[in-house]
Amino acid sequence: MTNLNKIAIINMEGVSKRYLPDTLALYDVHLHITKGEFVFLTGPSGSGKTTLLRLLFCAEKPSVGEIWLDGMALSSITPSQLPYLRRKIGVVFQDFKLLERHSVFENVALSLEVTGLTGGHIEKRVKQIIERVGLGDKIKRFPPQLSEGERQRVAIARAVANRPQIILADEPTGNLDRPRAKEVLSILEELNAEGTTIICATHDERLYERGYKRTLRLYDGILNSP
Ligand SMILES: Nc1ncnc2c1ncn2[C@@H]1O[C@H](COP(=O)(O)OP(=O)(O)OP(=O)(O)O)[C@@H](O)[C@H]1O
Ligand SMILES: [Mg+2]
Repeated sequence: MTNLNKIAIINMEGVSKRYLPDTLALYDVHLHITKGEFVFLTGPSGSGKTTLLRLLFCAEKPSVGEIWLDGMALSSITPSQLPYLRRKIGVVFQDFKLLERHSVFENVALSLEVTGLTGGHIEKRVKQIIERVGLGDKIKRFPPQLSEGERQRVAIARAVANRPQIILADEPTGNLDRPRAKEVLSILEELNAEGTTIICATHDERLYERGYKRTLRLYDGILNSP
């Protein structure tokens, strides 16, 4: 593939993020991610990983610099364009919150109700994705009746149900043992093989130590990009 054929889906130019009163969480970050890439984002606790993902999801605004997502400059996004932009992105955040009083099916289905799909289509899609993460036999259970790894897989199913172009995963294997962590990683890899761009923030050396994917490192808000 030539460079001309590589389409950047994420561009960050000179992005800094300051939290009041005095934390510089990111400093002068330049980052280009190509459509279909799988990138690990690593770095010590407090180095800015979650902040970077939150900026991409428009949950925070940069203090300085510009971000383009699939060609759209985030600084010029209007409130009415925001849901459209967010539909391109699936997020699995560190503090993933499942709705405890709703079944596995409902937790995933609720994420599709905003997309305008009708009931029959939602049901089919939700069943498909729950099968996909290996929870077909637990579709009627409630989150408290699941193991930590299973709950993490529901969070992934919820994030990918509307087939986003980009998945932002923040410590998706936190608290999981090695076999469960590998399962979660292989789900992300399968989605990536189908063309989804993935950014996975993690301290988990088991995921990136093999060095087979691009690994970005943050130290005190400064990105060391290979
Ligand atoms: N809402 C906030 N207000 C003020 N400071 C914040 C806020 N969120 C994060 N920070 C600070 O910004 C810095 C980067 O935090 P961030 O959560 O991005 O780090 P991280 O790399 O995700 O860490 P961890 O690995 O522990 O999840 C830290 O110093 C943190 O204390
Ligand atoms: Mg974090």
